[in-house]
Amino acid sequence: MIKKAVLPVAGLGTRFLPATKASPKEMLPVVDKPLIQYAVEEAINAGIEEFIFITGKHKRAIEDHFDKAYELEERLKLAGKFNLIKKINSFDHLNIAFIRQKEPKGLGDAILHAKPFVQEEAFVVILSDDLIDPEYPALKDMIKIYENKRFSVIALEEVPWEEVSRYGIVSIRMVNGDCVVEDLVEKPDRSKAMSNLAIVGRYILTPSIFKYLENLTPGKGGEIQLTDALKMLLKEEPIYGYILKGKRYDAGEKLGYLKTIIEFALKDPEVSSDLLNFLKERVSTL
Ligand code: G1P
Repeated sequence: MIKKAVLPVAGLGTRFLPATKASPKEMLPVVDKPLIQYAVEEAINAGIEEFIFITGKHKRAIEDHFDKAYELEERLKLAGKFNLIKKINSFDHLNIAFIRQKEPKGLGDAILHAKPFVQEEAFVVILSDDLIDPEYPALKDMIKIYENKRFSVIALEEVPWEEVSRYGIVSIRMVNGDCVVEDLVEKPDRSKAMSNLAIVGRYILTPSIFKYLENLTPGKGGEIQLTDALKMLLKEEPIYGYILKGKRYDAGEKLGYLKTIIEFALKDPEVSSDLLNFLKERVSTL
């Protein structure tokens, strides 16, 4: 059974400056929850019980967000706002560890920091920039594939060809209904991409990945790339692909983030109809 999730949250979030100058991009709100909370809730729904955050500078707000807020709870109690207390203390029971990645040396290096906590178990990696429609529980499905195959599973989605250089790109083949990864390359130029099938931010990794991460030299962008380690792992054991069913929102860049907020707000019963009216009215004046 997979019980541990690794959440790399050490990125600088430069695309959102100045909003991310002193507070982490993972705390940017989508309606009334920060991005990172969606990732944690998705993992809890998939049966994850332990969380390992790989953090960096200016990430204290993430620790505080998942910590008990005694003072706030007391105040809400006095004000009789019990529904809000429920909203802020739903993570009290979680086991969470925070590990500092001292230098931003890439996703692969961040994952390597989790080794002492993960040890010999398979584990989940969630990149909270990629928000996946909660109606289609990708992680749950991926864990089922892992339980059946006992090898790594990565989430995949077709992206427009002009965007392939923003992602890890794979080639796959179908074997008896299973999607088997044949090759991977991190952020290729469009002309060199073997497909437009991109890795999105959900992985189930076997612990064999660590020995490749330990010995990697920097790849694309001078960083230790998880995709490079997966390419090496592929020589030792199969890697399965999981094609996303639900919609994925790229909240890691400005336009994607704004679209994410609108989509999630349109599903929120508290604001959806008023927001829709506002949008219709606004569009009609263009
Ligand atoms: C990372 C991975 C990349 C993957 C992407 C998914 O890139 O390195 O292979 O396709 O996440 O969001 P990043 O977006 O951190 O640059």
